[in-house]
Amino acid sequence: MDKKELINNGKVKSVYATDNPDEVIIEFRDDMTAGDGERKEVMDNKGAYNAIISTKIFKVLEENGIETQFIDLPEPNIMIAKKLEMIPIEVIIRNIATGSLIRKYPFAEGSRLEPPIVQMDFKADEYHDPMLNDSLIKALGIATQEEIEILTQKALKINEILTKFFADAGIILVDFKIEFGKDKDGNILLGDEISPDGCRLWDSETLEILDKELFRKGKDSEVMNAYIEVYNRVIPDSEKVI
Ligand code: TYD
Repeated sequence: MDKKELINNGKVKSVYATDNPDEVIIEFRDDMTAGDGERKEVMDNKGAYNAIISTKIFKVLEENGIETQFIDLPEPNIMIAKKLEMIPIEVIIRNIATGSLIRKYPFAEGSRLEPPIVQMDFKADEYHDPMLNDSLIKALGIATQEEIEILTQKALKINEILTKFFADAGIILVDFKIEFGKDKDGNILLGDEISPDGCRLWDSETLEILDKELFRKGKDSEVMNAYIEVYNRVIPDSEKVI
């Protein structure tokens, strides 16, 4: 399948049209960014590691009844996906309190959040992704109450499946961000990616950080080793393509 015109050039992924109006090609680039894209570095093979990890996770979710945009991964960093009209909400699920949550609210670092917190942020760089609530989402015309409930239920189910998936690999799923979109029939599907770029992942034993937080903390030389550690733990040898 050939790439046609560039539809969207994101911070770390480029989306291209294809011959099929219902499908897109998503190229996972080797860029790594932090702070609304203020800091940017290129990391060898980062795109491929993320695409392969995301593919594995989307397949596990599909096996567990969550529809995703994933179709195929013909090359390690090239994904074919269903074309979606993305909903501009970053759905964040938090199982453990850390980061801004402990700076803004009286939670103790590392405390378990039971039930998990579901947070929705407006995906709009020019407004610095402010936190939303149901009234704001409806007032902005981003989603209906019924759709907000679908997003919440899907996010919690995804969290349940992935908490177990990562625990089996000796990893704590601390928190993560997902995005949804609508297909041509209006169905809400999971889109974007789920990779160490958008998750906080801690080693279950040592609590060592295994995700992009290392880059946010300026530990650039450690970040790819962490991604490769996640890759080695969650991708069976028979599915390792790099
Ligand atoms: P975030 O809300 O950015 O940080 P904090 O917890 O300090 O407020 O991140 C929470 C989780 O969601 C973390 O695993 C990273 C992920 N995330 C992204 O990947 N991209 C985003 O744009 C946002 C808002 C979160």
